[in-house]
Amino acid sequence: MITSLNHIGIAVRDLDASKALYQKIFNVDKFHTEVVEEQKVSIASFKVGDVLLELTAPTSPDSPIAKFLDKRGEGIHHIAFASDSVSNELSRLSDEGISLVNNEPRHGAHDMLIAFLHPKSTGGVLMELCEPIVTNEK
Ligand code: CO
Repeated sequence: MITSLNHIGIAVRDLDASKALYQKIFNVDKFHTEVVEEQKVSIASFKVGDVLLELTAPTSPDSPIAKFLDKRGEGIHHIAFASDSVSNELSRLSDEGISLVNNEPRHGAHDMLIAFLHPKSTGGVLMELCEPIVTNEK
């Protein structure tokens, strides 16, 4: 089940410049920063109400974000929805004929399992599903 809007991913070229801009607009106290090796991105995020805004910059020229920036420039990259089970949603959506970018959940930022749906199946909107990874150890 898809339960809520979790975050909005924004593609940026320069994370520091963009943090300064968003700091000005939203008066952000503190950004959460993280490098997600698997996606070749570094992110800076902050919350507006219940929703995270996630500024995402490439760490390598072959990062999917680098390709997006080359094609489309900076701007909204994806919208992410929380799910109670990303893998159940992927099989449900695939049965519905929705094309998936990721057939299996991957490891994303904020200790979450994530998977992208293909924008050709979602009216041009890149959608991500995400689910917190729950561990007993910590
Ligand atoms: Co995301």
